[in-house]
Amino acid sequence: MPQRRNKRVAAGSNKGGVGKTGWVEMVAAALAEMDRRVLVVDVDPQANLSRRMGRPYRKEAPIVTVSEVVKANESGCAADAIIPCGWGGIYAERIDLIPSRFDLDNRISEAAVMGARQRLARALEGVDDDYDFTLFDCQPSLGHLTQLALAAADYGVALVEPEYDGVDGAVRFRDFIHDEINRMEMGNLDLRFAAAIPSLVDGRLAAHTHHLGTLPGIFGEEMVWEPIPLRSVVKDAADEAQPLSALGSRGTEMREVYKASAERMIKEFV
Ligand SMILES: Nc1ncnc2c1ncn2[C@@H]1O[C@H](COP(=O)(O)OP(=O)(O)O)[C@@H](O)[C@H]1O
Ligand SMILES: [Mg+2]
Repeated sequence: MPQRRNKRVAAGSNKGGVGKTGWVEMVAAALAEMDRRVLVVDVDPQANLSRRMGRPYRKEAPIVTVSEVVKANESGCAADAIIPCGWGGIYAERIDLIPSRFDLDNRISEAAVMGARQRLARALEGVDDDYDFTLFDCQPSLGHLTQLALAAADYGVALVEPEYDGVDGAVRFRDFIHDEINRMEMGNLDLRFAAAIPSLVDGRLAAHTHHLGTLPGIFGEEMVWEPIPLRSVVKDAADEAQPLSALGSRGTEMREVYKASAERMIKEFV
């Protein structure tokens, strides 16, 4: 195995709309603000991350995406898809993106081909060694596309909306990683589940307060990271395809929140 300096982190849950993409984009920004170099890989055919980071796929101006990279299945071929994120300034200097597009869905039908799960890992060989972090934004399923990311990752982190179904989706993601047969089939026995990150937390909701209290018992005290609250400024930044810093003082509170996640990654993912 080649020695990589970077740490690869896959953000997932077997539930949609729990803040996975929001966490990946805002943590990438926080890491860049701390002078870290980040490669962000959009592994969701919805390609929300690519659009929010200013790199939507346009038919009239095609770009190489994660879909072509996975299809090519050659060592190091992911280098062909890397572009700076579309945010400008220090973000463009420090955050690179492998964008996605809807065509990625077509890779699922190829899952039965020998070695298919390792295609993204193979494509990244020798490509991301010089970054500090590689972040994978997964789709809500635990199927082939998420397994492509998990086969390449060092750590899996779950975003947990503190509601029954949100906790369920995060537990299924954790249990999938804990299952040794799954890790063996993905060719990645060393993959570790590393964090349950409470997300979209709304302090006004009794259900959220209740479920937040159950998380240490379910995941273990150390695994539960600082909660990410629900704030409209995050939605606004996502809509405008801008980092929180572009929204001025409105973004300050949430920048600190995502910075806490980024600091914890720097501390624990060594
Ligand atoms: N901390 C947050 N506060 C408010 N809205 C958020 C936050 N994080 C994400 N969102 C919004 O919630 C919705 C779902 O989040 P998203 O990150 O797309 O989830 P997922 O990737 O899990 O489907 C999106 O509209 C997104 O902009
Ligand atoms: Mg998403």
